[in-house]
Amino acid sequence: MLAMLATKTWALVSAGLIAPCLGKIFENVSELPGNLEYDFIVAGGGTAGLVVANRLTENSKFKVLVLEAGVSNVGVLDSEIPFFTGNLLGPTIYEWNYTTTPQSGLNGRVLSYSRAHMLGGCSSHNAMFYTRGSADDFNRYAAITADSGWSWDQILPYFFKNERWSPPADFHNTKGQFDPSVHSTKGITSVSLPGFDWPIFYHKVLQTTKELPEEFPFNLDMNSGKPLGLGWRQSTIGGGMRSSSATSYLAPEFIQRDNLHVLVHAQVSQLANISNVAGKVVFGGVRFLQGASQFTAKATKEIILSAGTVGTPNILMHSGIGDPTVLKPLGIPTVLDLPSVGKGIQDQPFFQVAWSVNFTQTLESITQNMTRFDEAFAEWNRSHTGPFVMSGHTHIAWLRLDPDSSIFENFTDPSAGPDTPHIELGFAPGIGLVPLTSPGNFLSIGLAVVTPVSRGSITINSSNPFDPPVIDLGMLQSDFDLFTLREGLKSAQRFFKAPAWRDVIIGPTQNLENITTDALDTFIRNAVAPSSHLVGSAAMSARDAENGVVDPDLLVKGARALRIIDASVLPIIPSAHTQAATYAVAERAADLLKQRWM
Ligand SMILES: Cc1cc2nc3c(=O)[nH]c(=O)nc-3n(C[C@H](O)[C@H](O)[C@H](O)COP(=O)(O)OP(=O)(O)OC[C@H]3O[C@@H](n4cnc5c(N)ncnc54)[C@H](O)[C@@H]3O)c2cc1C
Ligand SMILES: *[C@@H]1O[C@H](CO)[C@@H](O)[C@H](O)[C@H]1NC(C)=O
Ligand SMILES: *[C@@H]1O[C@H](CO)[C@@H](O)[C@H](O)[C@H]1NC(C)=O
Ligand SMILES: *[C@@H]1O[C@H](CO)[C@@H](O)[C@H](O)[C@H]1NC(C)=O
Ligand SMILES: *[C@@H]1O[C@H](CO)[C@@H](O)[C@H](O)[C@H]1NC(C)=O
Ligand SMILES: *[C@@H]1O[C@H](CO)[C@@H](O)[C@H](O)[C@H]1NC(C)=O
Ligand SMILES: *[C@@H]1O[C@H](CO)[C@@H](O)[C@H](O)[C@H]1NC(C)=O
Ligand SMILES: *[C@@H]1O[C@H](CO)[C@@H](O)[C@H](O)[C@H]1NC(C)=O
Ligand SMILES: *[C@@H]1O[C@H](CO)[C@@H](O)[C@H](O)[C@H]1NC(C)=O
Ligand SMILES: *[C@@H]1O[C@H](CO)[C@@H](O)[C@H](O)[C@H]1NC(C)=O
Repeated sequence: MLAMLATKTWALVSAGLIAPCLGKIFENVSELPGNLEYDFIVAGGGTAGLVVANRLTENSKFKVLVLEAGVSNVGVLDSEIPFFTGNLLGPTIYEWNYTTTPQSGLNGRVLSYSRAHMLGGCSSHNAMFYTRGSADDFNRYAAITADSGWSWDQILPYFFKNERWSPPADFHNTKGQFDPSVHSTKGITSVSLPGFDWPIFYHKVLQTTKELPEEFPFNLDMNSGKPLGLGWRQSTIGGGMRSSSATSYLAPEFIQRDNLHVLVHAQVSQLANISNVAGKVVFGGVRFLQGASQFTAKATKEIILSAGTVGTPNILMHSGIGDPTVLKPLGIPTVLDLPSVGKGIQDQPFFQVAWSVNFTQTLESITQNMTRFDEAFAEWNRSHTGPFVMSGHTHIAWLRLDPDSSIFENFTDPSAGPDTPHIELGFAPGIGLVPLTSPGNFLSIGLAVVTPVSRGSITINSSNPFDPPVIDLGMLQSDFDLFTLREGLKSAQRFFKAPAWRDVIIGPTQNLENITTDALDTFIRNAVAPSSHLVGSAAMSARDAENGVVDPDLLVKGARALRIIDASVLPIIPSAHTQAATYAVAERAADLLKQRWM
């Protein structure tokens, strides 16, 4: 959620000071050994795709090709240094540079919509929050799909397969900051607690949990399945560096496997070689573009679409899989009539508010002081310690609306259950997103509705697979979401009214306290941005359900040997940031694939 501005790193990367070491990541299709024939093809080398590629190639008999449209992550310093996350966000060579349709709930604004165009996908450029969601969220997925394999108890081992709990960069004593019994030290992707100390801020945040225990009770570990309360943030960071699906699932011991080929700069346009076998549609391969040339790669066992919540429905629709009323006007013959493709997507509306304070121990002591900035950079460079081992938020509170809230007269509770939050507040010892125009020291809260009711869609308006899809997030279409943001803001205001802050808070940077509800709504509609947690464009549903795109095993309904493994299969957004759920989905799906083909 929080992006730091630091343009200096560009110079370093473009000056070639960071030596690329490409391993077996292929840049040009002509370098690939063999004849483009594989057992499995994974379209999209992102967060989920690289999990699948890694797990399948544990079996040396399986030959796997990953096709990634974007650039390699290797040597990209802005991706490695947690503090520099913001430098990757678009328009840059690491981005698809998508924009949304005008959002009527946001006063007609057109938003940029961030998606990584890079190996590792969004895990290579996201904000690294590691939050699993509630047990209720997963138990609801199990109910929707009529498959207990998606329940919390059965998905937890897959969170553990993914997670490698690691010490924080400063090796401080972490007792009382997390619950070891809900973590795994044996997985692949590093997860850790904040590795740099902001003593005044940390002390006062924790003091507030004692002063306002009803609203902000301390939660030892928000990843236990019961996230409610305030606790220490956990991040996909290890040894002071970002841990992405590219750095972890393609680590040297994995990328060296002879049966794993990863090709970058390779954009899949559509599925190819359609036939019908026993009433099911079969695709023999995928077509992709590199440079100005088209290629077809053949998959003898399965094709896996892992192009993400925007990319996957785009490939489906250009392959004739989707709603005929969308495809027909564009002249795309319908191969599989699946009206749910691209429909019902969800993201979490988010905005940030800030307070100015009279102590100097905030992020501004680094972002506004070039001497200190250079020192911090040098320290990270030397030992992967110091303030650059983190990005922004240090604690999170997960809150529920008051059960007597008037909104429940008009809406049934959209949360998955009583242990599931409606609201997230992220606390940072400084300002991130808002470019600093005025000097000073600040604290900020990022606030989001994590159980939005609004839904949008991904569709296409061109038959050219290289034209961007049409993204309508449907932000703040529902009054529930607006109401819940107002309640979240009131919580944020109460937080800084606790006695702990009395002698340091100078005041909010904007007066949102004594204004009318209409004025507040206008402010919110102008301030809200999406969290970039998009799900639901190829939702899973029960085998016999009329709606949905994939069955509980993530096989495309009506097709054979075509699976979707990425965040697009989640039918409802989890009450969390979405990468942990994406990793768990991918780990379980990889097991389903291995069971099918062993
Ligand atoms: C700016 C930002 C910040 C975020 N912060 C957090 C956070 O802090 N914590 C968190 O939990 N979640 C966060 N998220 C969300 C999280 O990163 C995503 O939900 C998750 O990574 C999605 O994984 P995926 O595998 O579904 O898709 P992706 O990781 O996006 O992978 C899809 C891959 O497919 C490639 N691709 C797409 N189309 C094609 C094609 N036609 N041919 C070939 N390749 C293609 C893409 O280039 C990409 O590499 C953030 C997201 C963004 C964008
Ligand atoms: C996004 O924009 C940047 C800057 O203009 C550009 O370099 C990059 O190629 C664009 N990304 C894509 C996928 O076109
Ligand atoms: C890949 O290599 C071939 C042969 O050397 C070359 O002709 C082609 O232009 C290269 N492709 C790209 C996209 O650079
Ligand atoms: C696709 O089908 C064509 C014609 O039937 C065939 O020549 C080609 O080899 C097939 N390609 C793949 C990838 O299966
Ligand atoms: C800037 O940082 C340097 C190095 O840490 C420090 O000595 C100096 O006092 C700082 N300047 C201000 C204005 O805080
Ligand atoms: C990082 O360290 C290398 C030597 O290991 C040095 O050449 C480079 O200048 C350093 N960069 C920064 C920003 O300190
Ligand atoms: C519930 O709906 C009614 C009728 O549309 C409206 O007047 C009322 O304000 C709504 N309540 C809330 C809390 O939004
Ligand atoms: C498709 O939609 C985009 C907006 O998302 C618009 O810019 C573009 O002009 C549309 N193209 C066509 C052919 O309608
Ligand atoms: C600033 O902090 C000091 C204590 O460190 C306090 O006495 C003073 O009142 C504060 N000033 C303001 C404007 O809050
Ligand atoms: C809002 O009004 C109350 C009561 O008049 C006052 O105490 C408070 O300081 C005001 N808040 C702001 C930010 O002006």
